[in-house]
Amino acid sequence: MLLGGGLSSSTSLVAFLAVLSTGVDALQGKRQQQQQQQQQPQQQQNARPLDDVLAGIPDLSTYYGLLKSNPDILFQIPSLSGVTLIAPSNEAFNKSQNFQTENSTYITSLLQYHIIKGVISAKDLEIGPSIFAPTLLTSKAYTNVSAGQNVILTNQHDDTTVITSGVGSRSTITERDIKFAGGLIQQVDTILVPPTALEHTARDAYRDLTGFLGALYSTGLVAEFSTTPGVTILAPRNAALQKIATPISAMSKQQLASVLRYHLIPNQVVPASSFFLGSRNFTSGALDSAAGPGKKVRVTRLGNNLFFNRAQLLQSDVLIANGVLHIIDGVLNPDLEDQQQVPDERAATQPAAFNQPATGAQTSTGTKAPVPFTSSLPCTTECPVPTETEGAQAVATTRSRPVSTRTSSGEGARCTGMTGMNAAVGMMAGVVGVGMQVMGVV
Ligand SMILES: *[C@@H]1O[C@H](CO)[C@@H](O)[C@H](O)[C@H]1NC(C)=O
Ligand SMILES: *[C@@H]1O[C@H](CO)[C@@H](O)[C@H](O)[C@H]1NC(C)=O
Ligand SMILES: *[C@@H]1O[C@H](CO)[C@@H](O)[C@H](O)[C@H]1NC(C)=O
Ligand SMILES: *[C@@H]1O[C@H](CO)[C@@H](O)[C@H](O)[C@H]1NC(C)=O
Repeated sequence: MLLGGGLSSSTSLVAFLAVLSTGVDALQGKRQQQQQQQQQPQQQQNARPLDDVLAGIPDLSTYYGLLKSNPDILFQIPSLSGVTLIAPSNEAFNKSQNFQTENSTYITSLLQYHIIKGVISAKDLEIGPSIFAPTLLTSKAYTNVSAGQNVILTNQHDDTTVITSGVGSRSTITERDIKFAGGLIQQVDTILVPPTALEHTARDAYRDLTGFLGALYSTGLVAEFSTTPGVTILAPRNAALQKIATPISAMSKQQLASVLRYHLIPNQVVPASSFFLGSRNFTSGALDSAAGPGKKVRVTRLGNNLFFNRAQLLQSDVLIANGVLHIIDGVLNPDLEDQQQVPDERAATQPAAFNQPATGAQTSTGTKAPVPFTSSLPCTTECPVPTETEGAQAVATTRSRPVSTRTSSGEGARCTGMTGMNAAVGMMAGVVGVGMQVMGVV
């Protein structure tokens, strides 16, 4: 089922481990000096080589086999700084029934996403705030975060450590901080899911973002939002668009594009925790948006709540292929005066950033109004086109979403079935559904 052969590559693995050990020895020399100065025990001194350690853990035999079959990956490990290997247990591989192993490009990328740059001790993580950790995954076919696509580590209050990956998938570390000569291994119960493109994440996992996504399609901005490398996106939930359905639907394409670009923060992948650590490092209090020079989004923290202008943060840290998105409860308006962008500390709810017309059309707004722009979404699962046979095939392929390679027989319906990695990811034990549930997406 999983990669067959592979033992032929074990020579390379051994060769690699020699390389790695040399690098690590040098590092350990330095570390030991530091540690001796700090009167600390020399933790890494007797750490064994990776293959020794992995060979001794029966639960990680599948993972070990994959590494041996893909020794190239190990050669990319930055040997001098050490790494953290996220190692799924055999059961984790078993759970992902349709794990596709015949595509070596895919496997390589998947393994790269399971290697964090730098040594992170799960036991030493502070309880509470999540940290973003860059991995070795940089291939443009799978990610547009050039420093390496992130995973998110959180040490929960019950002192278990969870790693969040794409589409809200959560993996729990079941064995923490297993030492080897190049760093630490964290054994997990679920395979990490590399983050998918905005349009897949927003549609498949977070159905509350269909209005925002539809607006991007209707203005031709999807590619800018979804492939600009290393961005932060502030994504208004559907109710936020419904609330201002009348004015936002009346905008020209150009006006709407300017409003939407105000929700795109280029050149930085900003985790929510960095705002909460505000006093320590978030000094400017504002983010430069893609709406143009001077169009900054103000960030304000009121108690435990965080506001982007007057829109409240609802859900933070959704990883996407080109960065991160945060879900907010209001649409931001780039054209308001500065003082109108400050949240009112005493208000139970902040006013919308766009005025409703004084009369008329009120009936078409509010939560009962249709979500604006959803008709601009390209047709996918809701396509009314499959014949019975086609539908049956689709269902058999994956629970979360039919993969459609056929030409639709409908009236010009565009079916954007998942391809490549997205398909494989979708098949991983229905992670999409799990992610939604766990993260409490509304
Ligand atoms: C994985 O699945 C195989 C075949 O179904 C089974 O023999 C094996 O015990 C399973 N391993 C684990 C760890 O669940
Ligand atoms: C990364 O960006 C390029 C365009 O620069 C695009 O072709 C590619 O599909 C993007 N990759 C992903 C995973 O979104
Ligand atoms: C603060 O920000 C700078 C620049 O982005 C970064 O190099 C530094 O590591 C940050 N410090 C902390 C404590 O996060
Ligand atoms: C492997 O997957 C990648 C992306 O998912 C795709 O571009 C490539 O064509 C696939 N290769 C094979 C041999 O199927």
